[in-house]
Amino acid sequence: MANSIIQNQTYLTFMKAKHILSYFFLLFFVIILSSCKTDKPSPLEPIYDFTKTMIDDSAMVVTAHPIASLAGYDILRQGGNAIDAAIAVQFSLAVCYPIAGNIGGGGFMVYRSSDGTIDALDYREMAPAASTSDMYLDQNGNAIAEKSQNGALAVGVPGTPAGMYEAFQKYSKLKDWKALLAPAIHSAENGFRLTFRQAGLLNKNKTKFDKYNTDPVVFNSKNWKGGDLLIQPELATTLKAIANEGPTGFYGGKVADQIVNQMKKSGGIITHEDLKNYQAIWRTPITTNYRDHKIISMPPPSSGGIALAQILGMVENFNLAEMDYHSAEHIHVVVEAERRAYADRATHLGDSDFYNVPIASLINKDYLKSRMADFNPEKASVSDSIIAGQMKESLQTTHYSIVDQEGNAVSMTTTLNGGYGSKLVVAEGGFLLNNEMDDFSAKPGTPNMFGLIGAEANKIEPGKRMLSSMTPTIVEKDGQLLLVCGTPGGSTIITSVYQTVSNVIDYGMTATEAVQSPRFHHQWLPDKLILEEVGFDSLVINALADKGHKVMKRGKIGKVEAVRFLSNGNLEGAADIRADDDVKGF
Ligand code: GLY
Repeated sequence: MANSIIQNQTYLTFMKAKHILSYFFLLFFVIILSSCKTDKPSPLEPIYDFTKTMIDDSAMVVTAHPIASLAGYDILRQGGNAIDAAIAVQFSLAVCYPIAGNIGGGGFMVYRSSDGTIDALDYREMAPAASTSDMYLDQNGNAIAEKSQNGALAVGVPGTPAGMYEAFQKYSKLKDWKALLAPAIHSAENGFRLTFRQAGLLNKNKTKFDKYNTDPVVFNSKNWKGGDLLIQPELATTLKAIANEGPTGFYGGKVADQIVNQMKKSGGIITHEDLKNYQAIWRTPITTNYRDHKIISMPPPSSGGIALAQILGMVENFNLAEMDYHSAEHIHVVVEAERRAYADRATHLGDSDFYNVPIASLINKDYLKSRMADFNPEKASVSDSIIAGQMKESLQTTHYSIVDQEGNAVSMTTTLNGGYGSKLVVAEGGFLLNNEMDDFSAKPGTPNMFGLIGAEANKIEPGKRMLSSMTPTIVEKDGQLLLVCGTPGGSTIITSVYQTVSNVIDYGMTATEAVQSPRFHHQWLPDKLILEEVGFDSLVINALADKGHKVMKRGKIGKVEAVRFLSNGNLEGAADIRADDDVKGF
């Protein structure tokens, strides 16, 4: 017994010594490691802290990337307002989120000031002067998707630098343009760490970067890993030109020369004249009421606001709150409204500066009620066309939602269209160009990359803006801000925004619950009901199939960023768990 105690004590002393030795060894190892300068984080350290939900009392910024959220947060801390933060986020995303953030693309902003003034900014890309309605058709009149989706001919005249400057001139509080570009320039010059997801996506697109760029470009320069630093010196120089000269630093001078040279080299048609003529446009937001809430969203050239108002208006005639959430009954009603809204979109929507879009009629409540007159609770309607495009998964495009300390709100969606746009980089300028021309209807009835169908209203014309689905949205209740939201996702944007709004209004969800809930989508054609892979009950799926819905599953739909104003005056920020999205607030 005594022997065993001694043995135990000896063992314990040995273990203690071993433990202390190991401790010192570990400490030594950590000191050596931390003194070694490496451009990679330890595989044990997360690259970023992604915050998906938070509540605080002053301000919120929710974006697709922690670096961009930080850029907006810093500008708010410096005394900037939501517009200042939004501009900083846009330029930051152009650096740290190249798949959709951009200076070579465009977007839309919906704004609501703390006093209730609302506004909408259209900085959508524009068809070059030399474009024609048949520019993507072959000799037999068939649309060639490759031409409208990749390379120089797919590029619309970028709107982002002009849009940001418009917003700055009208609403900036900080009144320091250079300060708004500073975070982006810093990230471009010094680099930022790629997330694992970003590294994978860059590698996945390597062959496309190789194919559409003859000059060396930074994006395909190596096999990327999570944690790698992406440094973009050419982009930093371009951003400095915009910082120093405003939009002229992009639409004129050296950068304009670089764009036009790249066009000539790669077979594009954008000229100096096109760049000089580009203007961002202030528009009147689409507004509608939904169960005592005011919905404020984007007018044409986006279809988003009208289609959202249509779905809400059709669904308003049904008491969703009495239906179980995501029951077959609930999904069936919503899908039938979506089907009808997307059918209207295909025929009636386009750039209202070129085509007379019957906005008031389309969102008229009586019209929307009549649209659901043939609704059958037992049976799915049939989208009566034989032309059905295959909808591709697309999360490209990006959205951010911001509320500042004064209660001003910005809902902003921006895009290059497909992931990395046309894949063509203006080599000397270090930035990607969009492939937004694919959002036009290349041929009536022929689906674009999102399977969306268009007609005369959205045909290509010089100087016209292509129809969009982007749906930056703000919701008011009793004259107070309630919700700011939006998402990427091509044609699924409208239905994802609809579900977020309805989740909050009809089902009393928090922003976090509304954003993280599973989503579904129907867009008339192709006649398919798409459900996210995870989160739907198999009994519900069978019941939907029994009603005649052609149910399909897909990985993820949308990436919603939302801010909700709480009744105690606090703000709730919610960043989608589906990717690297992040909320910062204070
Ligand atoms: N490029 C996607 C959209 O504007 O809808």
